[in-house]
Amino acid sequence: MQTALRYALPIVFGLALFTLGSYLVVSTTSRSWFEDDVRRRAELAIRGAGDALSQSWARGDRVSVRRVLDDITRDERILAAAACAPDGSVFAQTADFPRSLPCSRFVARSLGNGQARAWNRAERVDGASVYLSALPVLSPGSVPLGAVGLIHDMSYAEERDALTRRAALGLFGVLAVSAIVLSTASARGSLRRFRNDLRNLVRGERSRGEFQPLLQDVRDLAAQLSPVNRAEETGRAWNPERLREVLHEHLQGEKVVIVANREPYIHDRDEHGALRVLHPASGLVTALEPVMRACSGVWVAHGSGPADRETSDKQGRIRVPPKEESYTLRRVWLTAEEEQGYYYGFSNEGLWPLCHMAHARPTFRDEDFAHYKRVNERFAEAVVSEVDRQDPIILVQDYHFALAPRLIRERLPRATILTFWHIPWPNPEQFGICPFREEVLQGLLGSSIVGFHVQAHCNNFVDSVDRYLEARIDRERIGIIHSGETTLVRPYPISIEWPNHWAQESPPAAACRKEVFAELGLKADALLGVGVDRLDYTKGIEERLLAVEQLLARFPQFQGRFTFVQLAAPSRTAIERYQQLNLNVESLAKRINERFGSADYRPVILQRQHHEPPRVFRYLRAADLCYVSSLHDGMNLVAKEFVAARDDERGVLVLSQFTGAARELTEALVVNPYDLKQASRALAAALTMRPQEQTERMRALRSLVSEFNVYRWAGRMLADAARLRQRDRLSQRLGGLASVEGAA
Ligand code: F6P
Repeated sequence: MQTALRYALPIVFGLALFTLGSYLVVSTTSRSWFEDDVRRRAELAIRGAGDALSQSWARGDRVSVRRVLDDITRDERILAAAACAPDGSVFAQTADFPRSLPCSRFVARSLGNGQARAWNRAERVDGASVYLSALPVLSPGSVPLGAVGLIHDMSYAEERDALTRRAALGLFGVLAVSAIVLSTASARGSLRRFRNDLRNLVRGERSRGEFQPLLQDVRDLAAQLSPVNRAEETGRAWNPERLREVLHEHLQGEKVVIVANREPYIHDRDEHGALRVLHPASGLVTALEPVMRACSGVWVAHGSGPADRETSDKQGRIRVPPKEESYTLRRVWLTAEEEQGYYYGFSNEGLWPLCHMAHARPTFRDEDFAHYKRVNERFAEAVVSEVDRQDPIILVQDYHFALAPRLIRERLPRATILTFWHIPWPNPEQFGICPFREEVLQGLLGSSIVGFHVQAHCNNFVDSVDRYLEARIDRERIGIIHSGETTLVRPYPISIEWPNHWAQESPPAAACRKEVFAELGLKADALLGVGVDRLDYTKGIEERLLAVEQLLARFPQFQGRFTFVQLAAPSRTAIERYQQLNLNVESLAKRINERFGSADYRPVILQRQHHEPPRVFRYLRAADLCYVSSLHDGMNLVAKEFVAARDDERGVLVLSQFTGAARELTEALVVNPYDLKQASRALAAALTMRPQEQTERMRALRSLVSEFNVYRWAGRMLADAARLRQRDRLSQRLGGLASVEGAA
């Protein structure tokens, strides 16, 4: 308000001067017009009376002169008239001619100094504003008979003057108020623009041109001073301790709440009825479990294990990991119908094939989506019941929860919601076939940040939003502004824990090799290849076996010597496409074994069951090569686990170019899994690679994965969340100031 007044006062003062000047000019001009008018009326009146007046006067006929005077005063603006004799006496006068005006005054003015002339003057008589005229009257022989004095009514001139004054005052008022309103609005506009620019600066969004240099400097400085960035520059390794530091120093040790469909620990009973804990085969769990151990907080997940209920409390809570108990697992119970519609249906028959280019036709059913919605709501409610503040940090995981970010945002508007999509995001054309595409996108845009493994998936997501929603895309900062909210879209390539506790707890590589070889009945000089996956059509397991077949066909030296073992965890077995895959893989393995096998040689060994991580790591450490042949994969953490497992710096990774991991693990032998010739050649190259080269490649890979481990992945996301929260808090304060000022 003060700012507005500072601008408005000089304008108002100037306007006052202008209005006063205008009033004076208008008033003086109109008064002179009135006086001219009066003068002309007086002359006309006397001239109109003409001969009748002079002849009657010359005859001394006072009655006739009086009649003429009465006629003259019929003009509404002439109040009174008097015929004044040259000696100043009254010859005749109308009834209301005031006594205070002596005839001598009129005679003196019009007949003085021996001249006969008209005289006029504005005066106040008896408190009224009048105009006096005196006009000489001559006899037919041009001898002065006297003067006629007229009193004109000037009240109408006064009224007009008052009207002009009021109009001027009104005009002044309107102009002054407009000036105040305009300058206030303009001052507030400038202030708002300034504040928006400042807020944009704080949020790191684009600001108006003139602020750019200053804001960029401030931003750079802030970035330099940011402790999170300083930590990045120190070259310190990312580990649980450093992740905890980020959480404690930059997020005040705030509790992290993760929402993910898959739980990190599944309770089950073995064949003897004894309770056991299983670790699911899931890249998501592989990555997030170490993060939760480091951060503590709550993991909200579907309680899918047969013994989950009996091991949880009434609210579905249990402290995990067993014996360590560093965070809470909150289990959400789903009915069989909910699980069918939400998990098998919309998530895995709809979104999963939609997002993977693996030639599986997505199936969308209304009833599945209704269950998906309901389950997302139930998880959002579970999250809200687990937070202890209005602005918690919530990590939403994966395609099972596309709607949850919006549902959580509705319940907790100040939450920082980081959503990570663990699978690829398709291009807009492909995404467009989803009948619920708008709801899926709107749901995700409830997030503060949406993360993908690679930039290409970020771009696809932004393009999908651009195509199907009314939203503003900030392509410079890769942000989406939708319904007044901003969602940043960022690549965070996921990784594994390093050092890896499963690898550390495993026997030495040589011992693993011995053990595994014995288990599989392999000769000491045998060559072993390994594949580890959920039995999923996106993993390219059929193509992998076909490449093995080609290897044996094209490079017969490996027949009888090379064995490929596939550890395949059954997955989503209620879905027909997975049942089909299971049959295909089985018959393929059978065919290859029949074609190249013998009584004591099985080129393909298929182990279709759940494998606990210690066993997986033993196999990874025992093998000569690991083949990851995904047809399309967001990242693929088995590739990174193979690298983590090989502390002996041996073994070769053959990696599909269609995995996110291929962008980072460039020392692997990168292949197109559909190109069986190329893939089989790569397998042969791996099996014949000199130990020296294996070491060089593995060392480079280990160095990369150790540096870009999962603590860095989580640390970068949490650091971005911390920056976002700082900016939001600052911009809320600026918003608060704005509303205080607005109220003032
Ligand atoms: O890598 C992550 C991931 O592919 C998830 O997207 C998926 O949820 C998980 O692994 C395993 O699948 P599921 O939870 O259906 O067993």
